[in-house]
Amino acid sequence: MCAREEQTLRTEYIDEENCRMSEKLRVGILGATGMVGQRFISLLEDHPWFEVVTVAASARSAGRTYEEAVGGRWKMDTPMPEAVKKLEVMNVSEVEKVASTVDFVFSAVDMSKEEIKAIEEAYAKTETPVVSNNSAHRWTPDVPMVVPEINPEHFDVIEFQKKRLGTTKGFIAVKPNCSIQSYAPVLTAWREFEPYEVVATTYQAISGAGKTFKDWPEMQGNVIPFIGGEEEKSEQEPLRLWGEIKDGVIEKAAEPVITTQCVRVPVLNGHTAAVFVKFRKNPTKEQLIEKMVNFKGAPQELDLPSAPKQFIRYMEEDNRPQVTLDVDYENGMGVTVGRLREDSVYDYKFIGLSHNTVRGAAGGAVLCAETLKAKGFITKK
Ligand SMILES: NC(=O)c1ccc[n+]([C@@H]2O[C@H](COP(=O)([O-])OP(=O)(O)OC[C@H]3O[C@@H](n4cnc5c(N)ncnc54)[C@H](OP(=O)(O)O)[C@@H]3O)[C@@H](O)[C@H]2O)c1
Repeated sequence: MCAREEQTLRTEYIDEENCRMSEKLRVGILGATGMVGQRFISLLEDHPWFEVVTVAASARSAGRTYEEAVGGRWKMDTPMPEAVKKLEVMNVSEVEKVASTVDFVFSAVDMSKEEIKAIEEAYAKTETPVVSNNSAHRWTPDVPMVVPEINPEHFDVIEFQKKRLGTTKGFIAVKPNCSIQSYAPVLTAWREFEPYEVVATTYQAISGAGKTFKDWPEMQGNVIPFIGGEEEKSEQEPLRLWGEIKDGVIEKAAEPVITTQCVRVPVLNGHTAAVFVKFRKNPTKEQLIEKMVNFKGAPQELDLPSAPKQFIRYMEEDNRPQVTLDVDYENGMGVTVGRLREDSVYDYKFIGLSHNTVRGAAGGAVLCAETLKAKGFITKK
């Protein structure tokens, strides 16, 4: 091939590439410098549909480059993506300015609940969809809280929310707490057997508090039997996932009743849950395993970029799942279950494990955004 032909081909390739890039949705990350924000940045590197064009954080970081603002706080295993290093950090509070640069935002800011509620609504009112990792709006009646494999139909409540907000494109959607991801999908797979009483103890990683062992040395070799607000979320949020839209709001399910204890353990990433279940119907162990491993939903059917091929896997070995071996299953988007067996007080018990900052936080939100895009809720502005 002569040099000219090569040049023409290259130009065509670049044009095609630019065109493809410009078709990507422009994304902003609110709270981009924090632990969850960093996870968003990592997960969105080379995302086929979304491109991070804006990073925003507090006034402390605003005006600096992303690299400067994060400084020594980068907590991911992989290096900071080159594409974001030189982005100038914007101030989350400058809503119009930030919103004008993006098609939608992910929210992972650490502010008071009332401040988060207000700022996320302010973004939605600029016609900017907000996919939030925060808990502030999880119980706002017309805000969908979604695990896309479990309750994607709850996104339909967005039409009612838009009416309330007076928007055409802007809305808020949230994902649930990280603690429930190790057992709520499993219980969903078993709904036809009518689980009605559940006891769950969660063993939660320190990254769930935005920390590493460097930031929190007291957690080395330690267990802390309290995580503020976590038990209420772990008991109530699954019921909202299993709820229904009635009169323009989500009404939570009544069953199964869930009681929990949430414990902080010296693990960096990965929430483990030890769970006991009573069923109205009498499933066999084989039936329970079959339902788990074949459980799938909208992300698998739509073949979304971040969807795990198999959402729940079952391991027969007595010593699995283990955090170090299994937390990254399906790039941190899958759930690993083991030790399913009959119990002398309850019907069955099992151990579940999921990645708290991937499936339980940023990855779960990215999967929500992919589902929202696939269903036409998020489009270019
Ligand atoms: N870590 C997890 O696994 C996890 C899981 C589920 C939910 N969450 C929730 O996600 C949120 C973020 O958690 P995180 O662990 O990433 O927290 P983090 O590491 O402390 O990061 C907090 C982020 O919020 C920004 N911020 C703090 N105060 C602000 C203000 N007044 N105005 C604007 N931005 C402000 C920070 O910016 P600066 O750098 O400029 O201070 C930073 O970008 C929290 O609400 C947390 O409860 C976390």
